[in-house]
Formats: sequence, structure tokens, C-alpha cells
Amino acid sequence: MTLEAIILAAGKGIRMNSNKPKVLHSIGGIPMLEHVVDAAMLLEATKVHLVVGYGAGQIKAAFSAEKYKDEIFWVTQEEQLGTGHAVRQALPNLEYNGSDDLIIVLYGDVPLAKSTTLRELVRLAGNSKLSVLSLVAENPTGLGRILRNQAGNIEAIVEEKDATEAQRQIKEINSGIMVAPKSKLINWLGKIGNSNQQGEYYLTDIVALAAIDGTEITGLAINDGMEVLGVNDKEQLAALERHYQMTKTTELLQSGVTLRDPNRVDVRGSLSCGKDVEIDVNTIFEGEVVLGDKVVIGANSTIKDSSIGTGTKILTGTSIDGATIGSNASVGPMARIRPGTVLKDETKIGNFVETKNAIIGAGSKASHLAYIGDAELGESVNIGAGVIVCNYDGVNKHRTIIGNNVFVGSNSVLVAPVTLSDNAFIAAGSSINGDVPADNLAVGRAKQRNIPGWKRPIKK
Ligand code: UD1
Ligand code: CA
Repeated sequence: MTLEAIILAAGKGIRMNSNKPKVLHSIGGIPMLEHVVDAAMLLEATKVHLVVGYGAGQIKAAFSAEKYKDEIFWVTQEEQLGTGHAVRQALPNLEYNGSDDLIIVLYGDVPLAKSTTLRELVRLAGNSKLSVLSLVAENPTGLGRILRNQAGNIEAIVEEKDATEAQRQIKEINSGIMVAPKSKLINWLGKIGNSNQQGEYYLTDIVALAAIDGTEITGLAINDGMEVLGVNDKEQLAALERHYQMTKTTELLQSGVTLRDPNRVDVRGSLSCGKDVEIDVNTIFEGEVVLGDKVVIGANSTIKDSSIGTGTKILTGTSIDGATIGSNASVGPMARIRPGTVLKDETKIGNFVETKNAIIGAGSKASHLAYIGDAELGESVNIGAGVIVCNYDGVNKHRTIIGNNVFVGSNSVLVAPVTLSDNAFIAAGSSINGDVPADNLAVGRAKQRNIPGWKRPIKK
């Protein structure tokens, strides 16, 4: 038995009121369609066929990552004539191996189905049954209803627009996800028509055809409505986002992370935490973030693609992106740590300090109001308040190299390229544009003059 997946993603998603193809809107920072493709890959489908139409170029660009290169087989549906028509476009690309081959159809706008659920649906299909993932929904509005006969067996699916008043009362709805035997699917799809309210070829019509030819139809009804909620508009997108975030924060809590309020933490990517991590409110984690043991993240902080070592504290309002931070460091409040920053152990970066592409050696400090860019600092360096590294001459970027135990007095500017060797001491208010040898004091400012008896100007 082999399994192939067909994912439908050709529609525009008119109800989203957006120019972006619907399936590229994201949940937890990941495009909806990517959630679906990843789920199909977890099922170990031999091929994943992606049916695209509206915004195909944008969608292909969103899947340029290496891991998708040999996995996705692109299918174009020029005109969106319905979900059945969409599946039909993928048929020529299917591999014909055995009579027991299965196809799982997934919708790009139903993003959160769990792979355990999908695996169960595949198992239920066996090798010759049709299995349909359904849900008993409190509010079934807009969705296809599952019709069962007196014996309780599934007979058909009717779209809301085509349903009778009585059928609309049915609360069991079609998630859109089904598993079908390949040869039967091909046969059924050849028979569906488009004489319905929307003039579309409905995939859901294969269910009635299956019932007619005596194929056993198994329904897997799940309880978690969010898992198979489709996204047709921004309200549903926001509802699924919240649900997704709650599952993420529940996992974090269960693994022992302290969250001051799980409703006010957002994880848009992957967050892995050591023991005794504490995370305050209004914090956002993006991309891949790794927090070591005993890390504390202060309120209103945003951390993206970074790792933070044991015992380090990130204080309120700090933004960190693309950084590697050692252990027992202190960053913030209100610090901005930009890509390429490496803060070694026991460093201190204080309020209103910005770093970019900078290595800050162990035990070094920049406690207030500084900019450190394209620089390499040794150990136990002290950067005074208001120190600016002038790394940019308007055209090119230049590097600043600072040795161990250097003291840079407040409000100095270091005009790169420049090197301050070990133990150098820079007088406050200096403009340094030449190298400073080890153990030297550099005073780079005009000498102070005092003018006695000076009269202040008088208002005319
Ligand atoms: C569909 C189901 C409905 C189910 C609901 C669950 C049909 C006929 N109806 O309705 O029973 O309850 O999903 O969310 O299948 N697409 C294409 N090409 C097309 C049309 C659609 O690729 O020609 C894609 C869309 O991009 C989308 C998916 O198929 O990802 C579903 O299409 P949509 O129009 O949203 O179907 P629903 O009306 O939600
Ligand atoms: Ca839909």
C-alpha cells in the first residue's frame, strides 16, 4: 500500500478580503498551507501533490526551502471550478503502484489537523473503504453536512447552499479531509457533475457515488472543533491563531515553564526551554528560540531566532533578533539586540543600548544609551553611557576592535576602523579615530577654556 496526498490550494479566498492567496496567511507565524504540507509529510505520503491556481507564483516562492524540494509536486488548476475539479487536475501525476493504494485529500485552508488524526483516518480506509473526517459542530453554518441513513451509515455530503431546510439542521459537518482508494477515486471523479447551486464540481459528491456502488464509508468524528476548522475569513483565522497559541502554551506549562499568563505569550515558530524558565506577559517568540535553564524573560519582549544561556535575564521591553547570548548575562530593559550579536557569559547590556554584528566578550558591560555595531570587544570592557561606534562612513561599514579590560568614557565616539588595545582608557567625550595602544590613556577632545567675566547675551 502506498499513500499519496493531494492538497487543494488553488482558491483565492475571497472572504479574506486580501490580495494574498488565502493559504499563505499564517497561523503561529507559519503559512496555513505549510502546516498542511508538513502534516502530509509526517504521514510519509510518497508524493505530496499541491494544486495551486490563484497566486501560484507566490505560493511556490513560499515553498522554496530545501526540505520541500523533492517532496512537493506542483499541479496547476487554471480555473477554479470546484474541489472535485481540483483533485482531478492531480490525477495524471499519481503513481500507479497497486490496487490498494490510497489518496488523502487535504484542504490548504484546514490547517491544524493533527497527524495522529490523519493517521487514524488512513487506517480506517483500510485498502478499499472511503473514510471521511467529520465533526459535530455547534455552529455548522457554511459547511457541508454529512447525511446518514437510518442505520447510521454515511450516504452523502450536501453543501449548505444545496441543502434543504431539514438538512441544514444537521450538525455533523464535513471537515473536507478524506481518504479514498486510488482507483475508485479516479472512477468517481469521472462521474461528478456541476449541476448545483455554485455550478462547481464538488469533491464531496464522490461520497454519494461511493454509497451507490456499495463502497463502505467510514466516518471519523472528532471532538476538537478547532482541529478541523476551515479558515474562510479573518475572524476564523484569528480564532485558529488563538487556539494554536493555547496548545503551544499548554505544552510549555506542562513541560514546567512558568508563564505569568498563558494568554499573553505568542510562539510563532519553535520555542524550546530548559528547566525553571520564567516568561512574563506580552512576550513574542519567533523562528527558532532556545532558552537555557533558569532564563527569565521580562514583559513586552520579542525574541527571534536566538539562543539564551543558563541564568540569563532579559528585562522588560527588549528586542532580540539573531543573537547568541551566553549564561548569566543581563539584557535590557529596553535593549535592542540585532542580528549577528554574540553576548558572552556575564555580559551586561543595559537600557537603550543597540548592538548589531558585535561580539561582546565575557563580563563586558554597556549599561546605558550606546550603539555597538560591527565590533569585537574583549573581556571586562566597560562602555560608558552614550558611546557610539561610528561603523558607517556613508558608503562602507568598518570594524572596531577592542581588547580586554578597555574603558571607554561616556559620550565618546569611536570612528571605525579603529583598534583599542588591552587596558586602553578613553577619556569621556573623546572622538577617537586613531588606534590606541595598550595601557594608554587617549584624550580626543578640545581642551576646555574658561573665560572669566563673560556676560550673557541680553534680550533685544
Ligand atoms: C469545503 C467542502 C465542505 C466542507 C468545507 C470544510 C466542497 C465542495 N465543500 O467547502 O463540504 O465542509 O470545505 O472547510 O468540497 N479549492 C481549489 N480549487 C477549487 C476550489 C477550491 O483548489 O476550484 C481549494 C481552496 O483553495 C481551499 C479548498 O479547496 O483550500 C476548499 O475550498 P473552499 O472554497 O474553501 O470550500 P468550502 O466552501 O469551504
Ligand atoms: Ca473553506
